[in-house]
Amino acid sequence: MQHSAGGPSPQDPREPLIGPLDLEENVDDALAVQAVAFGLSDDEIAVRRHIVLRHLKSPGARALGARTPEGRLIGFVYGMPNDRTQWWSTVVAGYLRAAGCEDWLDDSFVITELHVLPLHQRRGIGRRLITMLTETAEEPRSLLSAIDTDSPARHLYHRLGYRDLARNVHFPSAPSPYAVMGAWLPLRRS
Ligand SMILES: CC(C)(COP(=O)(O)OP(=O)(O)OC[C@H]1O[C@@H](n2cnc3c(N)ncnc32)[C@H](O)[C@@H]1OP(=O)(O)O)[C@@H](O)C(=O)NCCC(=O)NCCS
Repeated sequence: MQHSAGGPSPQDPREPLIGPLDLEENVDDALAVQAVAFGLSDDEIAVRRHIVLRHLKSPGARALGARTPEGRLIGFVYGMPNDRTQWWSTVVAGYLRAAGCEDWLDDSFVITELHVLPLHQRRGIGRRLITMLTETAEEPRSLLSAIDTDSPARHLYHRLGYRDLARNVHFPSAPSPYAVMGAWLPLRRS
């Protein structure tokens, strides 16, 4: 699309709006997005609900949401500064130690969840959510885990500059192995 020289670009009124998300208030909408995007059973949703609400008590935990102009949540991301005493960190620590990267557990902002509804994927929403969330991180680097497969999520993370720190990481009760990935901030622009 071309715009007249010098003038501001008119914003497409259909563009999703990305901004701060009160995840405690919107936890059910967010989990409904995750259930469709990632695939969660009702039992898993109930478990995740407790976990999300507990995460939100961590210092520095923050979330962003993408909404349609009508206000429907279509994507979200949340994360927090890594805390070595948290369950996720205790699981990945041994794998990172074995790979010689345990220091990544310090001074890292962890992306805990990132999900976009399938109908709205491939429009740059996921990239904008994670880029905007990490832009305000005080930590110099970011960590996350993703199912260790050739997925859209792994493509996105690689494009943003995340590299594999450890692979074949097993979380108790998760059927598939994960990769732990890390990137220096700010994330790479496309
Ligand atoms: C991962 C996810 C959040 C990406 O959201 P999205 O809004 O579709 O991503 P974007 O449109 O911002 O895509 C950015 C980049 O991701 C990669 N990507 C996204 N979808 C892809 C696909 N279907 N196949 C290959 N690469 C893909 C591309 O590199 C893309 O950049 P490009 O378009 O310049 O090539 C989304 O696919 C999703 O919700 N997946 C299911 C849930 C999930 O796996 N969450 C992550 C858990 S770790």
